[in-house]
Amino acid sequence: MKVSIIGTGYVGLVTGVCLSDIGHDVTCLDINPNKINLLKHGKSPIYEPGLEELMAYNIKKNRLNFTTSHSEGLRDAEVVYIAVGTPQAEDGSADLSYVMQAAKDIACHISRDTIIVTKSTVPIGTNYKIKQVVLEHLQEDVTVDFVSNPEFLREGSAVEDTFNGERIVIGSENEEAADKMEALYEPFRIPVLKTSILSAEMIKYAANAFLATKISFINEIANIAEKVGADVEEVAYGIGKDGRIGDKFLQAGIGYGGSCFPKDTHALVKISEESNHDFHLLKSVIKINESQKSVLYQKAKKRFGSLAGKRVALLGLAFKPETDDMREAASITLSEKLLNDQAEVIGYDPIAIENAKKVLPEGVIYTDKIEDAVKQADIVFILTDWKEVIEKTLVLTCLFHEQPVLFDGRNCYSLEEVQKFNIEYHSVGREA
Ligand code: UGA
Repeated sequence: MKVSIIGTGYVGLVTGVCLSDIGHDVTCLDINPNKINLLKHGKSPIYEPGLEELMAYNIKKNRLNFTTSHSEGLRDAEVVYIAVGTPQAEDGSADLSYVMQAAKDIACHISRDTIIVTKSTVPIGTNYKIKQVVLEHLQEDVTVDFVSNPEFLREGSAVEDTFNGERIVIGSENEEAADKMEALYEPFRIPVLKTSILSAEMIKYAANAFLATKISFINEIANIAEKVGADVEEVAYGIGKDGRIGDKFLQAGIGYGGSCFPKDTHALVKISEESNHDFHLLKSVIKINESQKSVLYQKAKKRFGSLAGKRVALLGLAFKPETDDMREAASITLSEKLLNDQAEVIGYDPIAIENAKKVLPEGVIYTDKIEDAVKQADIVFILTDWKEVIEKTLVLTCLFHEQPVLFDGRNCYSLEEVQKFNIEYHSVGREA
């Protein structure tokens, strides 16, 4: 099928590349000429395992193209995806200006019957607004159908998630359009759920809110476990064995970050408010997450009293491993708090340093070697469970420090393993 995708962020780019890989003729559109130029040369503007290899292969096969031109990108498309950002507006709601602009652009340039598919995460009811805008601006006498098709991929494993997703949700009011979308995805061999447009839109927010709730729940259990002397890892394992609870997303730590959970939970609170419903539970989830980002700082303060003049190594700056994304990363909150306390901060990340420099407060110093970060520090914090960070930190901290103290915000080590080292080890929800 001839597919066009507006927006080459995580969702748009990964969807475009993967759809071309299963044989569709894909054009990715973006208004940013630098990005498109990079993409045309097979370079991905985001770090995502496996993506560049797949891009190179499909560009060579001539079924993956990039353009800044709407007329070129949209003219003959049978299916057009909207995959632009919906950033958080000041009041917590989702900013739909990019989505609505994309809707106008599509209406002005399509010249055949088209299905418009919304992949961007949008408040419930947005697809109807998109429909209205498209119908107002349509230039040609063509039929347009509307489908809500939310995305469930994770950064850092986006390609793998696209090929091995657990479900594809197709929200539509037109059976033929839904069937066509099902056929488009058929080579992925992933179960398809057909729903109404409104349910599809809500599934996306409910899924992210539920996952965020699981994380805040286990973090609260971790905080209580510390007080009563239990071990949150054992508790998570014990409850996760119950199929009704499930063993995923029960990793206690320094809270969730990234572009999705923080933004989508705030947006769902806002959507609830607009429907005169007070979503108490989700508000608490957000609040717990905010305070959880500071737990290592609180622990270090309790242990050392003042942190003034101490140099703290932050290992892993991105919001999670396998990404260079710094959005809502715990490293932001922590470096602000540490610098406020007159501590020195040295940051290390395998790939996110350039992005970190754009968002971390001035005063943070950086190194591209984990050895240097640990060596130069008085106190070591693990913030992101990168493979390299897990493999090296325990050994390096013991090697370079006379009285090694490690604060592990991701529970990277079992207490058994730590006991083999002569180290003072603090983690989340358990004490050595
Ligand atoms: C999340 C969802 O997992 C995807 O299904 C969804 O498509 C995506 O948001 C989105 O809406 O676009 P993502 O933000 O890329 O994906 O990353 P996750 O792997 O879900 O991690 C989010 C945060 O939660 C990270 O900071 C991670 O460290 C934290 N986390 C995750 C925990 O603290 N504990 C856990 O058990 C799991």
